Amino acid sequence: MTDEEVLARIYTGLDREGPGDPADVAWAIKRLGLNGARAVCDAGCGSGADSETLANALPKAQITAIEQLPHLVKEAQARCERIPNVTVRQGDMARLDGPFDLIWCAGAIYFLGVTAGLRGWRSGLAAGGTVAFSEPVLLGSADETVSAFWQEYPAITNLDGIAARIEAADFEVLDHRQIIGAAWQRYYTPLAAHLVALRATDDPGLREPVAATEREIALWRTAQDRIAYALMLARPR
Ligand SMILES: C[S@@+](CC[C@H](N)C(=O)[O-])C[C@H]1O[C@@H](n2cnc3c(N)ncnc32)[C@H](O)[C@@H]1O
Repeated sequence: MTDEEVLARIYTGLDREGPGDPADVAWAIKRLGLNGARAVCDAGCGSGADSETLANALPKAQITAIEQLPHLVKEAQARCERIPNVTVRQGDMARLDGPFDLIWCAGAIYFLGVTAGLRGWRSGLAAGGTVAFSEPVLLGSADETVSAFWQEYPAITNLDGIAARIEAADFEVLDHRQIIGAAWQRYYTPLAAHLVALRATDDPGLREPVAATEREIALWRTAQDRIAYALMLARPR
């Protein structure tokens, strides 16, 4: 089984593929005073959880959801097929045509790097447009559990570090909030149930990836108050 096939088996049929909550979307929209016929991009939309939330919160807006993985594109298209103001496309979020009033990116900018991602999105923003993205954040000095949890993301930093990466792209931070607790529960609870089902298939190619994902969830369970994303609102200077 290729890595891509393994990913497709594990991250399939989930409500979402990373931590997040409709309340995060609502907070960003309210904080930015967004309404009316806006153009919004959900970059790295996964199976489209936030595309749906954005579309419902902004019924006059046009939401363009971009995802690179074909099986998630299909899931997002199925989820959004009855929502008239969402278009889901397979594509590379590093290159966004725009112009967008809001580029929303939940748990995906780390694939590009915060500074490189923002630099690349500048030309895809409308005048006065904003990027809202969530990014792993260290809340204090990382203990053993937190370090083990973020082992595969050595670039993780604290809030000041994220702000510095935003500044390096010549953007300014408008506001931020923590994504912690319930938003992670919303991600991990369906994933944990899916892993139980995968384990029952006894597919040898899935044994280790399933076990690794179970370890990730177990680490999170013991450090729920210290494992977080920061949701950042940033605008070009
Ligand atoms: C952690 S998941 C989050 C998905 C979704 N935003 C959510 O919160 O449920 C990150 C997503 O970004 C997608 N992604 C990563 N790099 C991408 C790229 N260059 N273009 C489009 N999608 C990308 C991945 O395929 C994955 O679906």
